[in-house]
Amino acid sequence: MTSDAQTSDENQQLQDRVNNRSQRPQSEAFKKFMASHWAPSDAGIHSRDEVADFTPRRRAAVSEQFAGERVVVPAGPLKVRSNDTDYRFRPHSAFAYLTGLGVDHEPNAVLVFEPTNDAPSSSDSTGASDTPHHEVALYFKPMASRDTEEFYADSRHGEFWIGPRPDLAEFEQRLGIRTKDLDQFEAAVTKDVGPAESGGTQVRLLREADQNVDALVDTARANTSMDLEAADALDAELTEFCSELRLVKDDWEVNQLRNSVAATIAGFEDVVRALPRAVGHDRGERIVEGAFFARARLEGNDLGYDTIAASGNNATILHWIRNHDRIDPGELLLLDAGVEADSLYTADITRTIPVSGRYTPVQRKVYEAVLAAADAAFAVVEPGIKFRDIHTTAVTVLAEHLDEWGLLPVSLEEALSQEGQQHRRWMPHGTSHHLGLDVHDCAQAKRDLYLDGVLEPGMVFTIEPGLYFKNEDLAVPEEYRGIGVRIEDDVLVTTDGCENLSAALPRKPDDVEAWIAHLQS
Ligand code: GLY
Ligand code: MN
Ligand code: MN
Repeated sequence: MTSDAQTSDENQQLQDRVNNRSQRPQSEAFKKFMASHWAPSDAGIHSRDEVADFTPRRRAAVSEQFAGERVVVPAGPLKVRSNDTDYRFRPHSAFAYLTGLGVDHEPNAVLVFEPTNDAPSSSDSTGASDTPHHEVALYFKPMASRDTEEFYADSRHGEFWIGPRPDLAEFEQRLGIRTKDLDQFEAAVTKDVGPAESGGTQVRLLREADQNVDALVDTARANTSMDLEAADALDAELTEFCSELRLVKDDWEVNQLRNSVAATIAGFEDVVRALPRAVGHDRGERIVEGAFFARARLEGNDLGYDTIAASGNNATILHWIRNHDRIDPGELLLLDAGVEADSLYTADITRTIPVSGRYTPVQRKVYEAVLAAADAAFAVVEPGIKFRDIHTTAVTVLAEHLDEWGLLPVSLEEALSQEGQQHRRWMPHGTSHHLGLDVHDCAQAKRDLYLDGVLEPGMVFTIEPGLYFKNEDLAVPEEYRGIGVRIEDDVLVTTDGCENLSAALPRKPDDVEAWIAHLQS
């Protein structure tokens, strides 16, 4: 299907030719009939979303940080997958965080914090609350009524094509944010842009979420001869702040993550049930990938990232997402997968399981070393330690095992020194990353607050040590080659330690074997 052709002109623009497959009726009779005889839609009173009790605090933090400045946070546009078909829409995570909007909402929307000269503001008649130093508005394109051409002729926005979309009142009621038509955005975002010294309004833009908004703001700045390098620096501070704001999760976010983890565990169980079908199949890894994906779409919005379904030597390829290979009996299957909830929070879990139900002795030996590294890392997690200590703890345990097995080319002490690090040949990735709306959450936070940051209750991250011995790795004896093991769990820092959010998924080798036997019985 495609929306229809409007012109038969020989000079028809290339971008219009996508519509040459059919001809939409143009008669007034057709238009009149299309606009009539529709029962009312069920748009009406909407209840407030639970997240709306949590987002005012988030917006207030932005307002405090950028008092006196206009702050602009776009959701981003639809992205083309091929020709005139788009990917499903996913808003920028900073926009999702500050609005509470998740799946589907809302292409081209922009959240704008307009400075209010520090006059304390409260709620307007709709209950839309403002922030200490700003009036906040969500600009978006509301659903067009059924007497418009957009209703039946616009394949990207029209209700006939993509189903009902929100109107201004719906989002205002659900989110507790004032809403405005996107038509008004250009004037609002460009108004009086200029340096504060000359009475203008300084703009901070979350860049690279929406190129059209970037261009609008850049043009407005250029018109005031603003130094573009200085402007980039302002924008970078906003991106950094939005990332750092998410380092500690609120209760609503933790609940979302719990839901994502529960759905992910169900997906891992589906994979174990599907394994007998996958073993021996030419594209067995795809059977695994498909089984997990079905669960992700059933219980959540999507995958949080492309599934790694890696059997045998593929498990030693860190981001193996081709998933097109056979799964043979006796191999290990490394499954790294996460369900993204409708709220867009994702889990990120890995288990390495024996496809025939039992680990071989050497597989078990490697697995137990990785498990020991993970357990040691869990044991140090508590408020007050540094994030980097988790990684140091895990890789030290791995190095000790590698030394015990005689694989290090130098002494353990030398390997552990900054000048050495030979053990990292077999685990070149980090042990932990923050987790939330993005699988690698808070990625623009300063190093001081991330790697060198101190743990606080409410932080959520992964612990994911691994060992990877490639088939072609001549530095290890043959028995290790082709074995890749990672164990990845999702961890919440509590007031006195941590909680393994994914503890319900077996980790110990005996438990993994019993779990497989149970699910396949
Ligand atoms: N699945 C990507 C990661 O573990 O970081
Ligand atoms: Mn991870
Ligand atoms: Mn992972």
